[in-house]
Amino acid sequence: MCGIIGILGKSPVAASIVDGLKRLEYRGYDSAGVATLEPTGLARRRAVGKLKNLDALLQLSPLGGHAGIGHTRWATHGKPSEANAHPHAAGPVAVVHNGIIENFRDLRAELSAEGINFEGETDTELVAHLVNREIRGGAEPIAAVEATLKRLEGAFALAFLFEGRNDLMIGARRGSPLAVGYGDGEMYLGSDAMALAPFTNRIAYLDEGDWVVLNRAGATVRDEAGKIVKRQVQTSLASATMVEKGSYRHFMAKEIHEQPDVLSHALSRYLDMAQGTVRLPDALPWDFADVSRVTLTACGTGYIAALVARYWFETYARLPVDIDIASEFRYREAPLDPKSIALVVSQSGETADTLAALRYCQANGVRVGSVVNVSTSTIARESDIAFPMVAGPEIGVASTKAFTCSLAVLACLAIAAGRKRGVLSADEERRLVGELMRVPRLVAEALNTEPKIERIAKVLTKASDVLYLGRGTNYAIALEGALKLKEISYIHAEGYAAGELKHGPIALIDETMPVVVVAPKDRWFEKTVSNMQEVQARGGRIILLTDADGAAHAGESEAVLVMPTADPIAAPFVHAIPVQLLSYHAAVMMGTDVDQPRNLAKSVTVE
Ligand code: AGP
Repeated sequence: MCGIIGILGKSPVAASIVDGLKRLEYRGYDSAGVATLEPTGLARRRAVGKLKNLDALLQLSPLGGHAGIGHTRWATHGKPSEANAHPHAAGPVAVVHNGIIENFRDLRAELSAEGINFEGETDTELVAHLVNREIRGGAEPIAAVEATLKRLEGAFALAFLFEGRNDLMIGARRGSPLAVGYGDGEMYLGSDAMALAPFTNRIAYLDEGDWVVLNRAGATVRDEAGKIVKRQVQTSLASATMVEKGSYRHFMAKEIHEQPDVLSHALSRYLDMAQGTVRLPDALPWDFADVSRVTLTACGTGYIAALVARYWFETYARLPVDIDIASEFRYREAPLDPKSIALVVSQSGETADTLAALRYCQANGVRVGSVVNVSTSTIARESDIAFPMVAGPEIGVASTKAFTCSLAVLACLAIAAGRKRGVLSADEERRLVGELMRVPRLVAEALNTEPKIERIAKVLTKASDVLYLGRGTNYAIALEGALKLKEISYIHAEGYAAGELKHGPIALIDETMPVVVVAPKDRWFEKTVSNMQEVQARGGRIILLTDADGAAHAGESEAVLVMPTADPIAAPFVHAIPVQLLSYHAAVMMGTDVDQPRNLAKSVTVE
């Protein structure tokens, strides 16, 4: 995740841009840079490392322009270097970017074939060249950006400046956040309201697919189709609180919608997207080639993420897996092989049972890796190695973005294990990495189904019991859906392996109990459709979460939610979205305290 700032000012802007970037350093700090419009034209200052290095460079070589864009980087494509630092430029165009351009290889090849030479290895640089190519073809900057946006695939936020156009700045948002700030004769762009707090508290958040043309008098927002739209200007409290809800009613809603952005960040930390490989920290305390089995243990949503990972370690790494909830594992006295490893998953890094399970493993000579969101937590500090989820602060008690970011880390670990154990080919690794790179965009597309999900959530609020069914990794998503619903709406819900239906739960089926079935068209689909028919034959009411192909083959259901089609490794991320949103909207309708549900705590530090 990177940070973006843009300012159309009434005085020199470089120092203000750096001030804004400092509030975005939590998003990444491999390198940073500023571009401004000077009397002599477009000028850039870029520095590797933390912002203080850029600050020092600007002291030595100041910029005086009154229009500028700035960026603090978390490397996705290409190592941290000055050549890869943003802003990137081509001809009169300067651009900064946050997110992932998925089709960058094809676009880069297209431009190279036209003789374009690239300064660095980033996907961002090609965006500058694409816009410049349109301008060289006679297009005005606005039309050039509009045409370029149509060529890009992925989840990203962008900000542009143009030499010779001192009162023009353009921004675009697709999957990664971008806010417009309204000043007094000045206008701003920023990755979030916090970054703009030093300049203004009048903020408008761009919606998915929006792009915005700014001058010092104001902003014109257009949707993806190019139609002019209105985005509400509101007063942000960002200056008062470092983490705020922004335009969302609850932290949980904000965190659900942050997932495309934070997943881009998490994936870019563990993937070398240019090479199409997993890139783990060098100093692993084990060699996967020598690991005999993996113990996975956690609590709640962390345990469910581990359940998904079990399928991945078995499928992609052919590693035997033992998995258990930590409160059981810690007392099982399980015999452990010192050649095995353990992975614990914990958003807070302070869950007592998970910490106890970690200590049990270490006491038995087993090395422990932790997938954690709080890198200063006890679990992070006591594990042999911590793998940060980098999901950003998660305030809502119901875990959402930490769940999907845990999946991102665990998927990368399973792929790396498969490569090291010689059971996963380099081609298959590249294919899987390509599928993971699509996850932020697919999640953004899944979020677009929210209006329909909200309507369907009403059905759940009329029930006293809800059953969630799935097979394979969809079984884990069924468990997560049931956990989310019960913990924030207080409606009883159970997640079950669809294949277990006939071994008891089918006795529950009647017209009063909605059955949510997680079933994209995958290798478990046909069997799950049979289970759906067993439910319907007994008057049960099915709410089906599937994809286009599944919807065409599943027969009648009371409601069908069609999610984007995804590769099996991406499907758990995509189908986590509808179960999160179903629970959120049901809870809102039930009038419960969504962010702080009764009886719960964000971190269970006692057993
Ligand atoms: C998830 O929505 C719940 N809030 C809860 O199950 C949580 O996942 C569990 O308490 C584990 O917390 P941790 O990830 O901080 O260890």
